[in-house]
Amino acid sequence: MEAQLNPYNPGSGVPPRFLAGREAEINGFDLLVARTALSMPARPMVLSGLRGVGKTVLLNRLKGIADHHGWLTVKLEGRPGEHGARDIRKALARELQVASRRYVSQIGVGPVKALLRTVTSFSATVGIEGISLGVEIDPARATTGHIDIDLQDVVEDVGTALRSLRKGFAVFIDEMQDVDDDLLAALVTVQHHAVQHELPFFVTGAGLPNLPARLADARSYAERLFDYRQIGQLDSDQAAESLAVPASQMGQSFTEEALASLLEASGRYPYFIQEFGSAIWEVANVSPFNVDDAHEAVRVGRQRLDAGFFPSRWDRATARERDYMNAMAVDGEGPSTTGTVATRLGKKVTSFGPTRAQLISKGLIYSPEHGQIAFTVPGMAGFIARQHEEPGTR
Ligand SMILES: Nc1ncnc2c1ncn2[C@@H]1O[C@H](COP(=O)(O)OP(=O)(O)OP(=O)(O)O)[C@@H](O)[C@H]1O
Ligand SMILES: [Mg+2]
Repeated sequence: MEAQLNPYNPGSGVPPRFLAGREAEINGFDLLVARTALSMPARPMVLSGLRGVGKTVLLNRLKGIADHHGWLTVKLEGRPGEHGARDIRKALARELQVASRRYVSQIGVGPVKALLRTVTSFSATVGIEGISLGVEIDPARATTGHIDIDLQDVVEDVGTALRSLRKGFAVFIDEMQDVDDDLLAALVTVQHHAVQHELPFFVTGAGLPNLPARLADARSYAERLFDYRQIGQLDSDQAAESLAVPASQMGQSFTEEALASLLEASGRYPYFIQEFGSAIWEVANVSPFNVDDAHEAVRVGRQRLDAGFFPSRWDRATARERDYMNAMAVDGEGPSTTGTVATRLGKKVTSFGPTRAQLISKGLIYSPEHGQIAFTVPGMAGFIARQHEEPGTR
């Protein structure tokens, strides 16, 4: 088909032409916004799931809803390491400045002057020059250099201003599992403070399956503070729609067998669906796309995944970490128990503690339960198995 009309968007955070499913989360967020407009309390949402299930596009959709309702919103992304910790504080301050300025252009300085002064103080404390909001620093707010105290000042002053306008203040954080311990704890503490003081502040996070556990480790009450949503594979109808709707918007269709074949091969994972959809658009000459087109698309799509999606993760691991993942892959999609993996490698469980921790911090594996580990990337075990096949046997 014509390449320029290909309606599928495989990629990271690239919005799909048709966002299938996820109604529960979108409706849940709509409700949160509606309750905030009535000054009613609501629980902030945390999305978690494997790589490529659509957390980022969903988080961006939720931010779009908040923006549409005139909320003050900030979007951040967690990054591991020391630089990550410094960068995200600066990004927070900068994004707050930008969002505040945009806000002022809509409603004027009057109702939000205190907010602007505190945001200005916070920026100076974090050490960014940034843009001037046209107000003096408030020397009594957000100037301690302790992120938990300063963030609380910001949330109190921004939240109070927004509450009087019946709007909310939301911080959207992608890859939240990579936020450093201090900031993570500060965010949870401040969220807790906001709930108690009826401030319309909502940390809205997305991250890998270990994110809820990281939040609970930061503060035990995090378990009850957030509305946790697991984002996973689409169900059969949603997965079929995510293939059929974009094609039909371009006047094309699938035979039932072709659709079934792509759904099966994709495991109903959104990223794989986009990859196979894109491939069938490339390989088919006429519509309806038939089962032969589907088989060819799966072949092409898998090649592409094996050249990009999987190696981009695999290549980040050291030789020892790869040995560890090889031993995990024996269990297929898993999970594996840490004991079994260690036995396979002929050593004690404890000797793999650092390797495991490294793989978790690189976002390649996570621990679904105590003593268990699993891949964060769907299909990783299959990819590893293919690495061991003789060339030409595929
Ligand atoms: N609900 C959906 N319906 C159809 N396609 C989707 C849906 N959600 C995501 N996609 C597509 O799946 C791909 C992956 O989405 P996204 O980058 O949001 O996943 P992710 O969970 O954030 O992955 P990662 O953990 O690697 O960051 C994109 O190509 C996106 O267009
Ligand atoms: Mg993402």
